[in-house]
Amino acid sequence: MARSYTSRKLSSRYPTDLEAWKKLGAHYRETMRRRTLAELFSRDPKRAERFSLSACDLTLDYSKNHISAKTRKLLTSLAKQCAVPAAVEAMFSGAPINATEGRSVLHVALRAAPADGVAPQTPGVSEVGETLDAIGAFVDGVHSGTICGHGGERFTDVVNIGIGGSDLGPVMASRALRPYWKKSMRFHSVSNIDGTQLADLTAELDPARTLFVVCSKTFTTLETMTNAAAAREWLVGKLGAAAVESHFVAASTNHEAMNEFGIRPDYRFGFWDWVGGRYSLWSAVGLSLALVVGMDAFRRLLAGGRGMDRHFRNAPLDENMPVLLAMIGIWYNNFFGAETQAILPYDNRLDRFPAYLQQLQMESSGKSVRMDGKRVRCHTGMAIWGEAGNNAQHSFYQLLHQGTRSIPVDFILPVKSSGASQAQQDLAIANCLGQAEALMDGFDEEGLAPYRVHRGNQPSNLILFDELCPETLGQLIALYEHKVFVEGVVWGIDSFDQWGVELGKKTASALSGVVAGGRRYGGGNPSTRSLLERVRKLRP
Ligand code: F6P
Repeated sequence: MARSYTSRKLSSRYPTDLEAWKKLGAHYRETMRRRTLAELFSRDPKRAERFSLSACDLTLDYSKNHISAKTRKLLTSLAKQCAVPAAVEAMFSGAPINATEGRSVLHVALRAAPADGVAPQTPGVSEVGETLDAIGAFVDGVHSGTICGHGGERFTDVVNIGIGGSDLGPVMASRALRPYWKKSMRFHSVSNIDGTQLADLTAELDPARTLFVVCSKTFTTLETMTNAAAAREWLVGKLGAAAVESHFVAASTNHEAMNEFGIRPDYRFGFWDWVGGRYSLWSAVGLSLALVVGMDAFRRLLAGGRGMDRHFRNAPLDENMPVLLAMIGIWYNNFFGAETQAILPYDNRLDRFPAYLQQLQMESSGKSVRMDGKRVRCHTGMAIWGEAGNNAQHSFYQLLHQGTRSIPVDFILPVKSSGASQAQQDLAIANCLGQAEALMDGFDEEGLAPYRVHRGNQPSNLILFDELCPETLGQLIALYEHKVFVEGVVWGIDSFDQWGVELGKKTASALSGVVAGGRRYGGGNPSTRSLLERVRKLRP
């Protein structure tokens, strides 16, 4: 199974050579690039219903896009011609679809039930339930006070130390699920290497009540190891070396390194190489989140992810939410020439969701070489950016409405307030719907000063749901995970590696001894050399 998937991928054709791609090109040139959203709606009074679909608790309204029924048909044909259904099955069955690293991609196994039959033969999959139970026992122990600090105090502050996928997921989800925080538990995070986050935190934290969760798949990442060592030093300074084993817990695949750091065996939570960093929130990397929101909420998050997995695996292509979202993205990216996409959630608790999706999409799709080693012949990942809705309106919406570029957007809109004022959430809803309408309709009239004209005809998706809760958050995350995967299948890239971050890591580590003045710069970059001289003069 595994080998046949890989060899089929290797021999697969460029998407640009496929019949559906060519037809989409002609369809764009001949019809759709000139057809406005207003025209599309006037041709079909039922368009809003015909171009909406529901999956789990989410409804996607994709009617305000430059697509007709024919476009949708061609886009789903393209997905079919790119063998998306086979790729989906290959992922769920544990085939090594992360070809450059020779790994399966099984974050879906972390939230599956045994009856789902997700790659049961893959080593590690049968340990998922056991590991989750061990996490649960630890979390419950912290909440009941049986697991406590060195001096017997209950933990109240959880500090996640990690970066990239070992930070963005716990940070985003803990903010999203703020109403679920256990009484007297607080979440904090430390990721950047400059040390300021930890310095600010340690100024406020009570060491006796602080639990550090060191999160790193590899347990070698410079930022995380530097911050973890600094946190340990702080703790030792306050409570003594013997306290380390009570105040540090870790999530990693590198058991030896956890051991060396001084993490006691029962405070180590493992996962498997088939969990990619940016897909790891569902694994032990979610420990700090679970510590704050509790195990019930964490399991509900997993259930939400599983719901979207089942939809993704079973729904036909033209009724499949992740597939449609992906194909609409490809339509704008590869045919309309869009370079960026904005993510705009209308619930402040989702304020880090755009940042989370930046890693998910840009690390996954920022590739220019196909799985067969050849260069791609079309653009791949768009730049992703965004901000919580109303803040964004008062910041960058000006460019969406009157700039020269067309930027497709995804609005994300929960209807119920997530634990604040419904009257205020109603205002957020009005703003979200109003902005989507204004982007589509624009504004112009006889005699209007040109600088007041809103061009309109700007596309958007709107993802609507009842309320932000663990299930809907899990569904949203899984929706975008699968969307990114489908895009990668169409382009023929490996969405699950990230070789492009290696060179920067290497040059930074080569320079780390130089900046402090210990070593001479051995590199040949004249700009770096000159900057180093300036830095040396300015260093304290
Ligand atoms: O930046 C590259 C990367 O490998 C990400 O993919 C990953 O999420 C992050 O670094 C952190 O890696 P680790 O969990 O191994 O510390």
